[in-house]
Amino acid sequence: MHSRFKTYRDSYYLKDHIKSSKIIVGDYTYYAGYQHKEDFESRVWYLDEIDESKDVDKLIIGKFCSLGSGCTFVMCGNQGHRHDWISTYPLDGFDDDFINYETHVPKAFQKKGDTIIGNDVWIGAEAMIMPGITIGNGAVIASRAVVTKNVPSYAIVGGNPAKTIKMRFSDEEIVLLEQIAWWNWDSEKIKKHLAILRSGDVRALAVK
Ligand SMILES: CC(C)(COP(=O)(O)OP(=O)(O)OC[C@H]1O[C@@H](n2cnc3c(N)ncnc32)[C@H](O)[C@@H]1OP(=O)(O)O)[C@@H](O)C(=O)NCCC(=O)NCCS
Repeated sequence: MHSRFKTYRDSYYLKDHIKSSKIIVGDYTYYAGYQHKEDFESRVWYLDEIDESKDVDKLIIGKFCSLGSGCTFVMCGNQGHRHDWISTYPLDGFDDDFINYETHVPKAFQKKGDTIIGNDVWIGAEAMIMPGITIGNGAVIASRAVVTKNVPSYAIVGGNPAKTIKMRFSDEEIVLLEQIAWWNWDSEKIKKHLAILRSGDVRALAVK
């Protein structure tokens, strides 16, 4: 049974419910999947489909992230398709007709590496994060964004391909926020300073 929030229907903390060893999630990060009934792990695509990826791609998500319904993480590099080859088709063993050739043809899989999501990131509904992307702390991903490039901390990005819409705070405030890293505080300290965390007053947080 998932532990759920009191106020958000069908939202649950992810950390304790992930089965795949390739998905690592920090405390308090939740998935609000009400509009898409499948489990969160079915939104992490192709993770187990390519043998060569076993020790390659991981999805690593920080603490206090809010993951909107139907957000998708495309994993596993090029998923075994090479667009610089004559055929993108997996001719190395997809069908019995070709399976005997498997050892004689080059492998198509190319890794892209881990997908890394920082802390306190809000990912909008149906956003798609492409393989090997790093998203910085405090970033916001607009609904239906297709994220093809790394996202700086505290940027709001949207569109396809996702571009920066605006920064949430000034450069100085962002440096402060990353130094403070409130997501590493213990829960008592977080509770004590909730009023500031639920305001835009970065300087007030810096003196806590
Ligand atoms: C990205 C987002 C946070 C921006 O909020 P906002 O600052 O109030 O947005 P605004 O309406 O002022 O729009 C700011 C700009 O972003 C653009 N924009 C907003 N949402 C966008 C989206 N989903 N994709 C692309 N561009 C978007 C607007 O067109 C506008 O562009 P402009 O400056 O060229 O006019 C919001 O639109 C969003 O996508 N929220 C996610 C909602 C969601 O999926 N929730 C899931 C439930 S947890």
